Amino acid sequence: MARSKTVYFCSACGHESSKWMGQCPACKQWNTFVEEKVAPTSRKGGAKPGRTSASPMNISEVTVQEEKRISTGIHELDRVLGGGIVKGSLSLVGGDPGIGKSTLLLQVCRNMANAGKKVLYVSGEESMHQIKLRAERIGTFEREMLLFCETSLNEISNAILKSSPEFVVIDSIQTMYNEEMTSAAGSVSQVREVTGQMMRLAKEHNIAVFIVGHVTKEGVVAGPRTLEHMVDTVLYFEGEREAAYRILRGVKNRFGSTNEIGVFEMCGNGLMEVENPSKTMLNGRPVDASGSVVVCSMEGTRPILIEIQALISPTSFQMPRRTAVGIDYNRVNLLMAVLEKRVGFQLGGCDAYVNLAGGMRLGEPAIDLGVVMAIASSYKNVAVPEDTIIFGEVGLVGEVRAVSGGEARIKEAQKLGFRRCILPKANMETLKTLPKMQLMGVTNIREALDYL
Ligand code: TYD
Ligand code: MG
Repeated sequence: MARSKTVYFCSACGHESSKWMGQCPACKQWNTFVEEKVAPTSRKGGAKPGRTSASPMNISEVTVQEEKRISTGIHELDRVLGGGIVKGSLSLVGGDPGIGKSTLLLQVCRNMANAGKKVLYVSGEESMHQIKLRAERIGTFEREMLLFCETSLNEISNAILKSSPEFVVIDSIQTMYNEEMTSAAGSVSQVREVTGQMMRLAKEHNIAVFIVGHVTKEGVVAGPRTLEHMVDTVLYFEGEREAAYRILRGVKNRFGSTNEIGVFEMCGNGLMEVENPSKTMLNGRPVDASGSVVVCSMEGTRPILIEIQALISPTSFQMPRRTAVGIDYNRVNLLMAVLEKRVGFQLGGCDAYVNLAGGMRLGEPAIDLGVVMAIASSYKNVAVPEDTIIFGEVGLVGEVRAVSGGEARIKEAQKLGFRRCILPKANMETLKTLPKMQLMGVTNIREALDYL
């Protein structure tokens, strides 16, 4: 009889090893290995050379049709997906517990059911009663939608084959398990097995499948990151649970571009789309306050205006305190070092707090110049005029470099009533049409600071 064997998996990236290791050689994280028992699956008559009927094909013989997209009925989600759901694709929606994944997908199910599609919602977390209560909050279901509360992979596969839906939601991957395997639900091997099975069902029967995955503390159960390479599309739902705004970010997309974002607001009756995020993010902005500047960041193809606030004050501690919310802490430290070295600011004895308003997280280098200006504005206690928008990447020599999408950024700012723009000089020279706005091109941060 074949014995089950013990293997170790990295819970962060899914790397497999026959022995325990302190550090994962693949993703370099520490203490992420977990032990799991894997029962050998008896595969009689597996692939043997010389027996297969499939053969390689010439690429010119492969025919493709234009992928048919199905609209989810939620414009923000369609955009993140690249125009809608692709038939036969497998998508993963990750995020912290309680962020709104189930709510979003139930809304999608409702829209698709109302549009006449056959929909199956499988939940391993909630009872029919709970789902019904949630469904009543988010609105009316005009047509039928199938609900199934089950955690066994076999039962779910059978239900899918029997009811042959066009769209399936699996909520959540961490609760599903295959009885033939000895490891617990949510372990790396189970999560992979369930995903693999869903992949086969999706491809063979041309069903669009959405899988929900909670992002959990590393080491406890396998997070969605272990599956990213298996699925076609990966979306992450971000945001503070306390704040109303939620950002849906496309991290991987085999059928469209990544880095697109969708902005939602959690209301009493489900998630609402935020159609004009720039306007929402700038709501309640202080007027004529030092340390506050508005930057423009490109999120995918879409420019978003956001306020950056900085507070610089003499420290009363031995070690100055520095915090960054919504932007990279190391980037803020680097930009402060550039200000010290290239402009001569005495920031060494100051506490520095840099915040991004609205619970957003930005990683684009184009906001560098905005961060520099916010810090300088607070340090000198001089306000940046409120109708000014700033963008540009800052280098270690203090130079301001060109960024992509200059026109789109300026247009968005113009739409929201901004009249002045501090931007890289190199960007200014490439503009095709001159906007109705005062443009101030700069080549280094000294020139930019002259506008304070
Ligand atoms: P949920 O979608 O269950 O989150 P997840 O599936 O990601 O764990 O729930 C999100 C939270 O949103 C929950 O705490 C209740 C709240 N909520 C609302 O504020 N309004 C609503 O209309 C609904 C359905 C939920
Ligand atoms: Mg849920």
